[in-house]
Amino acid sequence: MKLADNKATLSFSNGSPSVELPVYQGSVGPDVVDIRKLYAQTGMFTYDPGFLSTASCQSAITYIDGDKGELLYRGYPIEQLATNCDFLETCHLLLYGNLPNAAGKAEFTKRVSNHTMVNEQMQFFLRGFRRDAHPMAIMTGLVGALSAFYHDSTDINNPEHREIAAIRLIAKMPTLVAMAYKYSVGQPFMYPKNNLSYAGNFMHMMFATPCEEYVVNPVIERALDRIFTLHADHEQNASTSTVRLCGSSGTNPFAAIAAGVACLWGPSHGGANEACLNMLEDIQKMGGISKVGEFMEKVKDKNSGVKLMGFGHRVYKNYDPRAKLMQETCKEVLTALGLENDPLFKLAMALEKIALEDDYFVQRKLYPNVDFYSGIVQRAIGIPVSLFTAIFALARTVGWIAQLNEMIGDPEYKIGRPRQLFTGSERRDVLPIAKR
Ligand code: SDX
Repeated sequence: MKLADNKATLSFSNGSPSVELPVYQGSVGPDVVDIRKLYAQTGMFTYDPGFLSTASCQSAITYIDGDKGELLYRGYPIEQLATNCDFLETCHLLLYGNLPNAAGKAEFTKRVSNHTMVNEQMQFFLRGFRRDAHPMAIMTGLVGALSAFYHDSTDINNPEHREIAAIRLIAKMPTLVAMAYKYSVGQPFMYPKNNLSYAGNFMHMMFATPCEEYVVNPVIERALDRIFTLHADHEQNASTSTVRLCGSSGTNPFAAIAAGVACLWGPSHGGANEACLNMLEDIQKMGGISKVGEFMEKVKDKNSGVKLMGFGHRVYKNYDPRAKLMQETCKEVLTALGLENDPLFKLAMALEKIALEDDYFVQRKLYPNVDFYSGIVQRAIGIPVSLFTAIFALARTVGWIAQLNEMIGDPEYKIGRPRQLFTGSERRDVLPIAKR
């Protein structure tokens, strides 16, 4: 970042001395007012619950222009990455800042493939869960438990440890998600196969059984790979900020990523894809497209507490570019599977059309986000609804670890410790219980 030729002056109507605050600019996007010295100079904090106007860090990984509906990973538009690259190339880009050449891609792929197995002891953690445990409950536990197996790579300040932990996490997430799925259906775990692609290997671990050969469907393999790319990173969203704050204490990378998994689970964040599909199924049960108008009235009624899941975004005030690509992927997969008349897809398209013409949504700049179509395509592939967010976590792990490593690699980073506006009781003395 560089000092802008602009400064901010903060003045107070009560005659307190004004302060000058430096303004910094990045390579693109809004400038920032540096308030690091504000408390020392004024004895005051800034106040921004939800961080609507707060940059928590500087980063060179992902840039979103919410007004344009643009998403860049290390400068490359998501549309180009999703169509010209695969997920492992995107992982290399997010981690190291560049797209690999053929030799680099082969080397990176080999390294990831060689770390896809998990310690045999990991399977015993699953036995503690009920078979109907939510996969995100299992994933939060399993990812945190990984730190018990890799004492050789838990020093987050050691660059080699950070590097091998990144490879291990990217490599093992598909294995763990597939194990959570197999446990829920009472089938044996399938070991990874190094001769399959990243997405193909995940499909094999999910859907193969020891009883017969499993053939990867290339259309679904490509669609899954693209779904992973679309979910890989998204600047300082809630779960990424959680990983950064957790990692800032110096805890090990596995524990920090487990915190990200836990945060992603929320229905306002990564849990929205599961919530969106459940919403579509509920509307379908109510009568489908004929009931959309009634449903939309509920959404617009503040007291109903009903939201159009998969719509809206803190940053995008235009169409989420990932939603467009997800819709295309949806069409491709449904056609390949002969499901082009899938009623839920038709319902989602109808819902989108109505919402985009409705003043409530237009005024609030609410558009479909990444979660609106992702559930329909995953359901068509045969992935259970409850596993959708675990797959989001699988894909987002590379973004989380790239952001964590960027923070730890920044000499300026400190442990994150926000302050507060205190509105509770002032000092008072405890009375003996007889006098309370
Ligand atoms: C993800 O941050 C990221 O980058 C996240 C993510 C990533 O890749 O990491 O993109 C992934 O989490 C996508 C978002 C998935 N969540 C959902 O689809 C859940 C539904 N969406 C909403 O909960 C909401 O839009 C949020 C949480 C996504 C954003 O909330 P904001 O920015 O705090 O916006 P807001 O709630 O203040 O909304 C502004 C207005 C409000 O109405 P008013 O008070 O102004 O009258 O829009 C309304 C909201 O009530 N609104 C909605 C709505 N989303 C916002 N009304 C109905 N349905 C919705 N979906």
